Amino acid sequence: MSDIAISKPERAPSHLFYQSRSRRPQATHAEGIYIWDENGRRVIDGSSGAMVVNIGHSNPNVIAAMKAQLDRATFIYRLHFENEPAEELARKLAQRMPGDLDKVFFVSGGSEAVESAIKLARQWAVATGQASRWKVISRFPSYHGATLGALAVTGYNALTAPFTPMLPAMPKIAAPTAYLDRDNLTMEQRGEKYADLLEQQIEAEGPESVLAFIMEPIGGASTGALVAPDSYYARIREICDRHGVLLIHDEVMSGAGRTGKYLGGDHWNCRPDIVALSKGLGAGYAPLGAMVASDRLVQPVLSMGGFAHGYTYAGNPLACSAGLAVLAEIERLDLLANATRMGQRLVAGLHALAERYPFIGDVRGKGLLLAAEFVADRQTMAPLPAGLNAYNRVVELAYERGLIIYSRRTRGGVEGDHFLICPPMIVTAAEVDEILSILDDTLSALANELGLPMAGI
Ligand SMILES: Cc1ncc(COP(=O)(O)O)c(C=O)c1O
Repeated sequence: MSDIAISKPERAPSHLFYQSRSRRPQATHAEGIYIWDENGRRVIDGSSGAMVVNIGHSNPNVIAAMKAQLDRATFIYRLHFENEPAEELARKLAQRMPGDLDKVFFVSGGSEAVESAIKLARQWAVATGQASRWKVISRFPSYHGATLGALAVTGYNALTAPFTPMLPAMPKIAAPTAYLDRDNLTMEQRGEKYADLLEQQIEAEGPESVLAFIMEPIGGASTGALVAPDSYYARIREICDRHGVLLIHDEVMSGAGRTGKYLGGDHWNCRPDIVALSKGLGAGYAPLGAMVASDRLVQPVLSMGGFAHGYTYAGNPLACSAGLAVLAEIERLDLLANATRMGQRLVAGLHALAERYPFIGDVRGKGLLLAAEFVADRQTMAPLPAGLNAYNRVVELAYERGLIIYSRRTRGGVEGDHFLICPPMIVTAAEVDEILSILDDTLSALANELGLPMAGI
């Protein structure tokens, strides 16, 4: 979380607390890509909240669908009745999943989706006589959620450190940060090299002890929209198959259309065994997530006595009615195509900014899941000095100028700075240009404040 202090000293003390003591103005309303605050100021939501509001704020069709559901029923418990929005959303989601993934388990957020994926994998192993398999290999850096199980597979020191003694020690391999490498390999060779780290780790652990590998097909906040070389994805699948290891794709941020395909993994025709979804699934209209798995995994678990896992709000009809309406809007407005087109425009603009601001070392991502990373030196890709706090300052300077962006530390959360630029998928070309113009002004202010170089100066 960026720790920004647009503080209002005159404001009454709050009984709320989150990451820090910083305060923000109150939002009064939101529409499209904009949010208005109590002072009447309009801010561009350039990060769709936390990469959530994929179809934009206050979509009237989603609101109408939710109002209609409010009049019917707001809560139906899954053990007492089936409900139509949940059934229908599961059916529609199954149609969009790759391979044989057709069984849906609804949850209320991303951490719950990841926990559910890990627990289904484990129960499948127990049900199929492979009880020795329990280790879930993941990548460093990565982010998979805040709950202890999801945190155990997260690679982000700033968030895991206080809890280390409470977390099972899950093996980590390096994320495919091929853009940092200064070797003589081609990108494709680097992709294979990073994928082979998984095989080496499985062999080191003992394949009979390894349950699953979890990865974000396109990275989120922990890596700054990291995209692996194309060769990585198929090789990972091969390695998992060779060792009987399940492949879990965490699509909490990259899924639901943000990258221009419904799933991030669809760019490489990936065939994971389980997918975790949230964020753009309910798109901020309702807390909603899903774990989608193959029937191959589900049937042995159900035959063994059932999945020993569940949440009270699973399949909530109001949340599922929102999810259904969000899917319908993605189709009606052709938002996957717009995310691709507007993403290309933003990338071109970010590259132009990188010409002017040499401390932008890399621009990456797909569709509207995009990031720019700051460096001290483009040749070595050395990070900026951590003490400059560039990742916080850039967010604050943009906020002052009417643009919300999202930033984290790239390299395990301890150093490196990047910001994500992820506006809603309804963004227009004129709005992209407005975002780029505010970014330009922001980067110029950042360079002046931190003494960073600008081209020609
Ligand atoms: C890739 C990924 N997985 C899991 C999560 C956790 O989701 P939530 O915060 O909804 O629990 C996030 C949240 O940012 C995420 O980006």
